[in-house]
Amino acid sequence: MTNRYYLTTPIYYVNGKPHIGHAYTSILCDTLARYYRMLGREVFYLTGTDEHGIKVQKAALAEGMDPKTFVDGIVPKFKELWSLLGIQYDHFIRTTDDHHKAGVQKVLSELEKKGDIYKAAYHGWYCTPCESFWTELQLKEGKCPDCGRAVDRLEEENYFFRLSGYQQWLIDYIQANPDFIRPDYRKNEILGFLREPLEDLCITRPKARLTWGIEYPGSGDHVVYVWFDALLNYLTGIGYPEDNEKYRKFWPADCHMVGKDILRQHAVYWPIMLKAMGVEMPKMVFAHGWWKIGGSKMSKSLGNIVDPVEIVARYGTDAFRYFLMREVTLGLDGTYSEDLLNERYTSDLANDLGNLWHRTASMIEKYFEGKIPQPGGDVWETRLLKDTLGLWEGVRDHILNYDLRESLAGIWAVITAANQFVEEKKPWALAKDSAKQGELADSLYALAECVAHIAILLQAFMPLTAAKVIDRLRIASTGSIRDAAGFRKPLTVPGTGIHKGDPLFPRLDEKPA
Ligand code: MSP
Repeated sequence: MTNRYYLTTPIYYVNGKPHIGHAYTSILCDTLARYYRMLGREVFYLTGTDEHGIKVQKAALAEGMDPKTFVDGIVPKFKELWSLLGIQYDHFIRTTDDHHKAGVQKVLSELEKKGDIYKAAYHGWYCTPCESFWTELQLKEGKCPDCGRAVDRLEEENYFFRLSGYQQWLIDYIQANPDFIRPDYRKNEILGFLREPLEDLCITRPKARLTWGIEYPGSGDHVVYVWFDALLNYLTGIGYPEDNEKYRKFWPADCHMVGKDILRQHAVYWPIMLKAMGVEMPKMVFAHGWWKIGGSKMSKSLGNIVDPVEIVARYGTDAFRYFLMREVTLGLDGTYSEDLLNERYTSDLANDLGNLWHRTASMIEKYFEGKIPQPGGDVWETRLLKDTLGLWEGVRDHILNYDLRESLAGIWAVITAANQFVEEKKPWALAKDSAKQGELADSLYALAECVAHIAILLQAFMPLTAAKVIDRLRIASTGSIRDAAGFRKPLTVPGTGIHKGDPLFPRLDEKPA
């Protein structure tokens, strides 16, 4: 296993403000990136914005602005949201960056020289909102087969990328590399799609229709199709073609995380582009599901978007991150509703985790003058601490398998067990019995250790809450956890003064709306 981990989000369209769908992909990748950093891997987390194309040109026009001024105004909204959500990316690429544009043009020139790109007349149908070309046969009742909207008849000269020549190679590659497309059911969908003959991809648009794009090299009349431009960000974002050292270090990507709506571009166009360029394949394309509202995908065009900034103002960053990672198994769709978020906040966060911290800290304050007690017996043999230590491997295995929900479920099972432990031990009763002082110290020490391990494990998911608990328990946050065994040691130090602090998750009716 190499020591580096290169992870990408899709680059987001900048035709409007970011919403929960975008926040989901970025939080997901941030959680993975933070965890891999904890494992001691050298992580490169790339994100950015997809700024060219008809959608952006139209949105700018509607505002009476030129596209570049328009996108320059939207990009900060993405960056501000990522900072609010604690997203620690390593580079933010914009497709309007000069380096990216030059990279795209270089690739195009080389592929044309190689014969993988050719110029031809195009006759067919075009769906403007989807930016897709369709043949007569592909139309559904004369409308776009993807979105159902009206299509326009087109006849024009364009450049085409020879996808068709690589179809069999791609099928063989996907079959020989079962982890290349995940989840499995999405791989099967792509293989199903590849049973039909693959048409060459039209990769330019005449300037008469679209001016906001990268100029096709050597043609004064065409700009590059937005997907051909956008996909290359995964290479230009790590310096390709110039900065060879970074590129050599991080390519191939370990995971391109994408929504299921853009899997085809990532699992068909992208590998073929790379193959034609003679570049190694990424290790994995993982397709996650959609957040829906009342059965429909949340999207700007449907006008049903929820603004993450408003949610964070009410529930806090960590609750929002927790909800998105806990509510849905990666790959499947989820239903977003504030009621569900509210329920998770109250039950999992305020009642389970918040209460565990609060009662542990309160009892240490009350019975041990606020200092971690010195245990007498072999507390590491207790069920609670055995389960706590067992979490390290469980969480690691689930995260390495991209099952973040299960890793959180495992952590919460231990939180629940710890709360039960308090009910069973009844430290308040032990405190009254002078013969039970050793058991009282053991119990509160075990609870403090349990909470400490949970805080360290939650760093990737809920960085702010984890940092608070780590600070209040005066334990060291982890630099690296190379393996679970490396962490089978006490985290807290008996005799150290702790700090209870404010409730981790205040009751919502006590928070300003
Ligand atoms: N610009 C392209 C991606 C180019 S990558 C080379 C794009 N942008 S997007 O802004 O429309 O979507 C970006 C990501 O957000 C996609 O992965 C998409 O699936 C995700 N989401 C947008 N709406 C979503 C939901 N309602 N739910 C979950 N994620 C969805 O596509």
